[in-house]
Amino acid sequence: MTRTTAPRLGVNIDHVATIRNARGGFAPDPVRAAKLAEQAGADGITAHLREDRRHIRDDDITQLKAALSVPLNFEMAATDEMQAIALRNAPHAACIVPEKREERTTEGGLGVLQDEARLAEFIAPLREAGSRVSMFIEADPAQIEACARIGAPVIELHTGTFAEAHLSGDMARRASEYERLREATRIATEMGIEVHAGHGLDFDTARLISVIPDIVELNIGHFLIGEAVYIGLESAIVKMRAAINEGRTGV
Ligand code: PXP
Repeated sequence: MTRTTAPRLGVNIDHVATIRNARGGFAPDPVRAAKLAEQAGADGITAHLREDRRHIRDDDITQLKAALSVPLNFEMAATDEMQAIALRNAPHAACIVPEKREERTTEGGLGVLQDEARLAEFIAPLREAGSRVSMFIEADPAQIEACARIGAPVIELHTGTFAEAHLSGDMARRASEYERLREATRIATEMGIEVHAGHGLDFDTARLISVIPDIVELNIGHFLIGEAVYIGLESAIVKMRAAINEGRTGV
């Protein structure tokens, strides 16, 4: 079945916290940004509590959980510490991501295939606690099959390489990456896995990804927070929503 409704838009507010932390203190407040995003039409808020707490901090998660009316998608590494925090906060969704201390952002997808038994055990309590667990992976059929075997109900496809190809003007690479994402979405949907996508998306690439039938959710952060400097967060989100709708419905 091909969906005609537009993908949900999850707004990642990590980089509001990055700016706050550059000076210490309390401003700008990621919770205020999240509320504003919600008012502007975000369907969910995403926040990544990294091991080094470089942007989002523990109390941000507690406050987001208390303040939001839309679902919170908690991005986390597969560590005991993050599992305990997720179980305490019971977010609507938990997206499991790879994490390296030295990286600037989440580089590449999770190796579910390489760590299948541990990840199966790791996600079970999160699922039992009622969080919708997603695995952030590359558009690789072998990884999708591993996600199916461990019982992950959702995957999020890493769109970073596609977005990079678009920005660099490498249209041949963009086309092949797009095809990979499209095929991965088809395979996963056929297996009964819900498909999300994100990383590095802007108005143009979000529109293109929304064309792919059965992508159910996009998670977008860095570009929106950057765009907010020029046009405000609310306008950036409204424009993003329009781009996503246009991609899915053609209008
Ligand atoms: N989805 C996941 C799983 C991520 O790790 C990130 C980055 O934190 C995003 C989406 C958003 O990426 P960006 O900030 O580049 O839009």
